[in-house]
Amino acid sequence: MSLPRVEVKRQMGRGDIDAVSALLDVAESVDGHRPLGEHQWLDLVQGGREGFAGLVAWEPGHDHPVAYAQVTRGPESWALEFVVDPHHRDRLAAIGAEVVGAALDVVASEGGGHVHMWVPKPTPVHDAIATDVGLQRGRELLQLRRPLPVDEAHRSGAEPLAVRAFVVGQDEETWLEVNNRAFRHHPEQGGWDVETIRNREKQPWFDPDGFLLHEQDGRLAGFCWTKVHKDVDPPLGEIYVIGTDPDFEGQGLGRRLVLAGLDWLAGEGLTVGMLYVDATNKAAVHLYENLGFTVDHVDRAYVGDIAARP
Ligand SMILES: CC(C)(COP(=O)(O)OP(=O)(O)OC[C@H]1O[C@@H](n2cnc3c(N)ncnc32)[C@H](O)[C@@H]1OP(=O)(O)O)[C@@H](O)C(=O)NCCC(=O)NCCS
Repeated sequence: MSLPRVEVKRQMGRGDIDAVSALLDVAESVDGHRPLGEHQWLDLVQGGREGFAGLVAWEPGHDHPVAYAQVTRGPESWALEFVVDPHHRDRLAAIGAEVVGAALDVVASEGGGHVHMWVPKPTPVHDAIATDVGLQRGRELLQLRRPLPVDEAHRSGAEPLAVRAFVVGQDEETWLEVNNRAFRHHPEQGGWDVETIRNREKQPWFDPDGFLLHEQDGRLAGFCWTKVHKDVDPPLGEIYVIGTDPDFEGQGLGRRLVLAGLDWLAGEGLTVGMLYVDATNKAAVHLYENLGFTVDHVDRAYVGDIAARP
């Protein structure tokens, strides 16, 4: 069987975006999750910014792409994600290695660097693809869930926290400062700028009423930003970003902020709470397990250092 023909696009036109979006929709309906992370998906639908490459794989006899990979240059590393059409997954290993290999060639030709390839619900075939292209297993992200509303036993008598809704056009700078302090060691959530938050504000799911801020003496001490996923079954109420300013850590705020977020989600009618957490984030994993969250599945990063090649 021949290998797919891979087109490398630095900018995605309307036709490319439509073809790839159709592939992502089919994959999502089969896999139960979106194949591209949110940052990557926004890059795609906005046609790609600097450091972007979309790789579209075609096979003779098929009028739709059989696979798609995307690389985006971040401040310290490259993000790479890929998806193979569910109808072509009998050849997942071969098509995957081809499209991921082509994506790594782009990275090499652009000066090389550290690469993160995130795979939701990885299987041994994904391990094999990674090995084939010279990447190793890296970070693991846990998706945790718990039923809503939260029962009294898991509240451990915590008093509800005073929170207010985020105000668009007013709270961005203050929130960015606390977010970037809380996530100073985090590769994706730290180092956000005004453009990143304004981008989120434009998303259809964005609801400032579910973006909760807790202030003490006029200072932002912590926040819990929720995101409702209505189009999945069951609908999920996500604790999207939660953080306590480092000056306020260890005072029980994190726990009460999560509860405030979960209560808000339950009030919106959600019956399942969900969040992602780095498996190595001991403070956060401990906090969530204590609140009755359990692991639904794992997402894995495959990582490697790619040498520059002309
Ligand atoms: C995770 C975070 C929100 C916790 O906030 P906090 O205000 O310190 O939380 P709390 O004071 O309510 O403590 C929550 C629990 O974590 C525990 N904890 C705090 N730091 C810890 C650490 N370094 N290791 C292990 N447990 C820790 C506390 O002991 C407490 O457990 P307990 O209730 O059994 O005593 C905060 O550390 C933070 O903002 N981290 C950076 C951002 C982040 O990682 N967010 C989560 C991403 S999913």
